[in-house]
Amino acid sequence: RTVAIVLAGGSGQRIGLATPKQLLKIAGKTILEHTLHIFEQAPRVDEVIVMMNPGFVSDAEAIVRKAGLAKVSRVLPGGTSRNATTQLALDALSHLPSESTNVLFHDAVRPMLSQRIIDDCVTALGTHRAVDVAIPSSDTIIEVDDDVITDVPTRSRLRRGQTPQAFRLATIKDAYVKAWDDPDFEATDDCSVVLRYSPDVPIHVVAGEEQNMKVTQPVDIFIADKLFQLGTAATPEYTEHDYTEGLQGRTMVVFGGS
Ligand code: CTP
Repeated sequence: RTVAIVLAGGSGQRIGLATPKQLLKIAGKTILEHTLHIFEQAPRVDEVIVMMNPGFVSDAEAIVRKAGLAKVSRVLPGGTSRNATTQLALDALSHLPSESTNVLFHDAVRPMLSQRIIDDCVTALGTHRAVDVAIPSSDTIIEVDDDVITDVPTRSRLRRGQTPQAFRLATIKDAYVKAWDDPDFEATDDCSVVLRYSPDVPIHVVAGEEQNMKVTQPVDIFIADKLFQLGTAATPEYTEHDYTEGLQGRTMVVFGGS
């Protein structure tokens, strides 16, 4: 059985509005609803649980009801950090067999996740206990200490981590048990918890996509909105001329729904 956990417990401080960013609308729908539709359509996902910012649980429930999202079994309040939210989701899965259950954690604010990535994650869980999704970095990544460069790691070996992050339930539960024993435990994702606390588990990396962006900064709302407009008004063929002369009102497919 494969369960998708949609992490929507945050408040979007970097965007800085009173409404959490997962409830902002792009292309006529909330970001959360776009993301939930993707999992609803994923043939290999059996169940979806939404972990929502505690002040907005009823808003998420209303979205699920109105959109008729049959795979969403529960909307639960999230925690005070992303990792606390993950733990609450794991608690909600305690009745499931931990060896035969797959769990996919996905940021609610990545509303352009492709079916190909979901499918690759579930396939990879057939042979790996932990799976991450990542893309190469176009930018050079530098390491700094107080605005002074301390290292410039070789770009070809670097990747930018996305979600979903997928695990056998037993593996992620085990890593979190050890993590909470560490008073210095701090992380911004789930694969780093496995890497640090279950170092014997290799984490397989599946290719992500640039379009699987995380809406994080104000400008991302505009970029995501434009990508949705382009992606839904399908014009399947475009030529070099379209690029050199500008699209001139034509649209191109930048991502596919399924
Ligand atoms: N998230 C969560 N529970 C938290 C914090 C974050 O489920 N306590 C979720 C967010 O809702 C988001 C995802 O984790 O879908 C990625 O986190 P991020 O982009 O950092 O979201 P926010 O914490 O909302 O943003 P910010 O850091 O700007 O406040």
